[in-house]
Amino acid sequence: MARIPLMAGNWKMNLNHIEAIALVQKLAYTFKADDFAALEIAVIPPFTDIRSVQTLVDGDKIALKYGAQDVAVADKGAFTGEVSALMLAKLGCTFVIVGHSERRANHGEDDQKVNLKVQAALRHGLTPILCVGEGLDTRQAGEQVAHTLAQLDAALAGVASADVANLVIAYEPIWAIGTGEVATPADAQEVCGAIRARIREVHGSAADQVRVLYGGSMKADNVAALMKEQDIDGGLVGGASLDPDEFVSVCRYRLHP
Ligand code: 13P
Repeated sequence: MARIPLMAGNWKMNLNHIEAIALVQKLAYTFKADDFAALEIAVIPPFTDIRSVQTLVDGDKIALKYGAQDVAVADKGAFTGEVSALMLAKLGCTFVIVGHSERRANHGEDDQKVNLKVQAALRHGLTPILCVGEGLDTRQAGEQVAHTLAQLDAALAGVASADVANLVIAYEPIWAIGTGEVATPADAQEVCGAIRARIREVHGSAADQVRVLYGGSMKADNVAALMKEQDIDGGLVGGASLDPDEFVSVCRYRLHP
């Protein structure tokens, strides 16, 4: 079965809800039916923007998907500051990013917590975009595959193969995030291919369906080469997703020379 490519723009902590509306409107009138036929396109705004994005996408029947950048482990209760998968599902979210390296580094999210978040998302029909990837020291030591697969195994512990098939995994080497230093297509493919091979080992044919994205300084001028690799099914795009022209160009990688 052919996998549908996915380009997801992770806005991180940028754009208030008014700015979000402006960006989504610009995307909506720039993207054509051909774009939405060729791939899935998603924006991942801050929580405070999601209701506005939902209203616009539903009202104007835009084929754009959207999601959230994080999710609570619990469904409800005394968890000040948290947002649950139940709430995100109610807002029409398709995706939720889980285990982004910025959350792992700045909010003490360990593999076990990431696993619980994957399960919370799945309980409520959200598709986790599970982020994995090594830091610079690990890459310099040549341990990138072992490190990333250990994160993958831990995050997917106890997850059924049928759910794994519908997951999105984003390989985001930390040294390439926001640095302008993009992994070479061969480096990205090495780890993305290893991720798929591990999923085949543990979950069989789910490996044919699961989508593996690359993230880390993906831009219009490097996306086409990355997308030629056989195990890269799309991108998790940070900085370049805040500029509508750049993001549209990233999503149109198939038209690049
Ligand atoms: P940049 O594209 O800004 O490097 O960010 C990548 C990222 O972390 C997406 O989640």
